[in-house]
Amino acid sequence: MRRSRILGVGSYLPERRVTNAELAARIETSDEWITQRTGIKARHVAAEGETTSMLATKAAERALAHAGLNAADIDLIVLATATPDYTFPAAATQVQANLGITHGVAFDVAAVCSGFVFALTTADKFLTGGSHKRALVIGAETFSRILDWNDRTTCVLFGDGAGAVVLEAYDAEGTPQDQGILTTHLRSDGRHREKLYVDGGPSSTQTVGHLKMEGKEVFKHAVGMITDVVVDAFAATGYSAETIDWFVPHQANRRIITASADKLGIDLQKVVLTVQDHGNTSAASIPLALDTAVKDGRIQKGQVVLIEAMGGGFTWGSALFRL
Ligand code: UT7
Repeated sequence: MRRSRILGVGSYLPERRVTNAELAARIETSDEWITQRTGIKARHVAAEGETTSMLATKAAERALAHAGLNAADIDLIVLATATPDYTFPAAATQVQANLGITHGVAFDVAAVCSGFVFALTTADKFLTGGSHKRALVIGAETFSRILDWNDRTTCVLFGDGAGAVVLEAYDAEGTPQDQGILTTHLRSDGRHREKLYVDGGPSSTQTVGHLKMEGKEVFKHAVGMITDVVVDAFAATGYSAETIDWFVPHQANRRIITASADKLGIDLQKVVLTVQDHGNTSAASIPLALDTAVKDGRIQKGQVVLIEAMGGGFTWGSALFRL
């Protein structure tokens, strides 16, 4: 059975780090409120002129180095972003050019905070379908550009960043013990648009717009949607809260993460939490967290990792893989 496996991971955060205290000096908020409600302590903000494709390229280069591969080995780039450099071309094609790749194909996937799970699933299907051999799957965002910095209910929550993995197709046994992606589950429900959206775009306002969110409403749906797709992943593979090694959730809010882990019966020791360091980086958050835990030695080769995300649309999804 053909499967795709992760050969390398990498991530990048812009240099500038903005603490809760710095935000509290500018708007009516406090380190205490942000920490208690979200777990976030700081976020990173891209420099002037530093675009999503630049962050993505740095994360991709680090993932390639970790995999011990060259850019020329890649024939597929799937980039998840809701904040591309331009309306078109796709930011993925900019990354392709930055890496000096002139063969294969590169395209963007738009699923906001669930973007990385959607991109990984898409790449997995290309690789297991046999049309492509090695992929860069990237989540990269510059949410600082779509935030209303005077709206304290949203601007304290998000940040910029990028993360990437290198995926390679190989012939596996076809058992749950295989290395690589064992199952993926994607969902969406467009009726929830108003709860989390950007109030601008090329076809509506001809402006970029600002992020709008009914935080409480999103929160209310998040835990149920997350647990549903995780239960699907367990049912498809036979793995369970007890038998997975690591849970690497989308990093939006510590309370959502711990409530989901609790509901699923996943021991908090298995949960990778990085939201404190970078806030909600949308599609970048899972590969940022994954890279952190792989590079600090927590997640080891051969271990079983569960990822999940939920975000604007609503979209939501899960994937389970053995590293
Ligand atoms: O990636 C997926 C997308 N997003 C999410 O997953 C986010 C989901 N939602 C959340 O994480 C939470 O709902 C928030 C962190 C956004 C808000 O937490 P909450 O516990 O739902 O608070 P709330 O919205 O009910 O606000 C409570 C109070 C309000 O004051 P009143 O009406 O009780 O007087 C807000 O005005 O906190 C106030 N507030 C703030 N206070 C200080 C809202 N934002 C702030 C702030 N600083 N930044």
